[in-house]
Amino acid sequence: MNPVKLTDNIYWVGAVDWDVRDFHGYSTNRGTTYNAFLIMDEKITLIDTVKKSKKGDMLARIKEIVDPEKIDYIVVNHVEMDHSGSLPDMVELIKPEKIICSNMGEKALRQHFHHEDWPYFIAKPGEDISLGTKTLSFLETRMLHWPDSMFTYIKEDKILFSSDAFGEHLGTSERFDDEVDQAILMEELTKYYANILTLYSPLVKKLIAKVKEMNLEIKMIAPDHGVIWRTNPGMPLQAYDKWSQNKGDGNALIIYDTMWHSTEMMAKEVGSGLQDEGISYKLLNLRYNHRSDVMREVLNASAIVLGCSTLNNGLLPRMAGFLMYMRGLRPTNKIGAAFGSYGWSGESVKLLNEAMTEMKFDLIDEGLKVKYVPEEGDLSQCVELGRKVGQALHAKK
Ligand code: FEO
Repeated sequence: MNPVKLTDNIYWVGAVDWDVRDFHGYSTNRGTTYNAFLIMDEKITLIDTVKKSKKGDMLARIKEIVDPEKIDYIVVNHVEMDHSGSLPDMVELIKPEKIICSNMGEKALRQHFHHEDWPYFIAKPGEDISLGTKTLSFLETRMLHWPDSMFTYIKEDKILFSSDAFGEHLGTSERFDDEVDQAILMEELTKYYANILTLYSPLVKKLIAKVKEMNLEIKMIAPDHGVIWRTNPGMPLQAYDKWSQNKGDGNALIIYDTMWHSTEMMAKEVGSGLQDEGISYKLLNLRYNHRSDVMREVLNASAIVLGCSTLNNGLLPRMAGFLMYMRGLRPTNKIGAAFGSYGWSGESVKLLNEAMTEMKFDLIDEGLKVKYVPEEGDLSQCVELGRKVGQALHAKK
């Protein structure tokens, strides 16, 4: 239950959730952390809290440093329950002088917890709050990823407390970026952006530009999930910069579901066609790949080829669910194509095309339908479809 020191008088006092496997539909196979930070100054300040069920872990860590009742201010960078669930109990215990939040944060706190009497204090961008020796300033980051979201920056230590941004769902005993496997870190950083922030990429782009324009010196980024970036804080900034521009890596994904393996046979041949064109691709069967892992791959892909059998005049349920999820996250700038087998009506390809048209994918083919089980000629057409996608990717470079 030890707190972890970030720098002089600033501590991580959050909680590790080793067991969580589902985060409102996002699979968190490696668990997560809810990060909270304690600043020991003339005004003792707690930045963010943790999920309600983890309040005991946070309190035990705070108690290693100070009596929690001595905390003066609580900063709420983000109201979502994984960071505010334990706030009512903490307010009851601490009776803080100020609950510092954004304008939208105050509204959201009232609508979540219904306390008219809490000492809300709206942090205005450009107005600093002195804690004694340290100074807090604030960046409004509305819709990154909730209307209330904001960042807090400590001028003297050059630490950016970035709420959900630049975080990962990664439960570890280590607290810093240089202590964990870099490939896992990148995988989880990518998955987080893909599943939480893709929809807000235009705002991320503006934020990155604003941070560059402000010339904000950042020695450390302390997000609300995952590791604290002390060695390479530029890495998540660069990654977000790239992802917010929706530039794919030139690769393709074949995302499919299959009833009796016919669509699967087609998927493999589409892959052969992509390989003929020298395109790196992945075959992702929705039966074995969770939608949030597929979205991680979608983030960096340049072409999406969707395959699905027809069931009851529609799509197989896993594909229908995936499309609803992907449409909500609105990935852009993708080449698209569709294929699928059918028995008698054969609506799946039309439905896949409609979904991709709605997402403004660049459809390069009307799609390929095969009745029941593909023959050699059908499979050759699948190879052709893969080649066509590959050629379109080459042309786009
Ligand atoms: Fe980690 Fe948007 O909550």
